[in-house]
Amino acid sequence: MRIAIFNQKGGVGKTTTALNLAAALALRDRPALLIDLDPQAHLSAIHGNALGNVEASIFSFYQDNRPLHDLEVEWRGVGHLIPAHTELIKVDSIFGKGPNILNKLNRGLTESGGGRDVIIDCCPFLGVLSLNAVFAADKMLVPVSSDFLSLRGALQIERTLKAIEPVIKRRLERRYLLTRFDRRRKMCYEVQSRLRDQFGAELCETTISENVAVAEAPAVNRDIFSHAANSRGAQDYARLLDELTAAKFFNG
Ligand SMILES: Nc1ncnc2c1ncn2[C@@H]1O[C@H](COP(=O)(O)OP(=O)(O)OP(=O)(O)O)[C@@H](O)[C@H]1O
Ligand SMILES: [Mg+2]
Repeated sequence: MRIAIFNQKGGVGKTTTALNLAAALALRDRPALLIDLDPQAHLSAIHGNALGNVEASIFSFYQDNRPLHDLEVEWRGVGHLIPAHTELIKVDSIFGKGPNILNKLNRGLTESGGGRDVIIDCCPFLGVLSLNAVFAADKMLVPVSSDFLSLRGALQIERTLKAIEPVIKRRLERRYLLTRFDRRRKMCYEVQSRLRDQFGAELCETTISENVAVAEAPAVNRDIFSHAANSRGAQDYARLLDELTAAKFFNG
């Protein structure tokens, strides 16, 4: 299964969710391939050793047609990563008008063979890179942080996905996920209720709590399970995987 973690809004928990979902899968003996498709390269920075070399990054898949499987690095306890590089910011201007560019990642993943789950960490803007993720993905997971501006952002995402669907000629199966949920704040419940009205069963039952351990884990190059296995954040991401598996969002 290929899942794009997608939201045009920044700082909503895309990278955090990509990493911790992959780590939750790895704990169930199902290591995934993570693709960092963000010029900010935050996921690659959390990995620690995967940053810096443009030729070893996904930019060289776009620039030099390097096969994706050549670019994978191991991530112990998580799976594998194809790192990003800041040069990715140039993908739009260099390749944006080329034929078939929007399907490039889709083709690259098919050529690299299937079997594994693939989790794509998208950047917070809609361009060639994000569209590559959408075109390649079977499903979309849209993290939405629990505040009113993010609620507006979620409605914008829905409009974006609805505009893309006729182009790719299929419905994009998606789930919205509330992140940074603070049980002491009334606003969080209000945002949840508005999202429930808007998206119904497409809003995950699981919410990801605002949790210090989740925020601290990247500073020590760790996912939430290896950093603080008993934390609220670890429980939330394990529960999220349970929910997505039960909903057949991941294949059994
Ligand atoms: N549940 C959480 N509890 C506390 N902090 C969180 C939580 N989720 C994310 N954060 C923190 O919020 C910040 C933004 O999260 P993250 O980088 O995952 O968002 P993003 O959507 O990937 O951002 P961008 O759009 O810039 O790529 C990070 O500092 C992260 O550690
Ligand atoms: Mg990110």
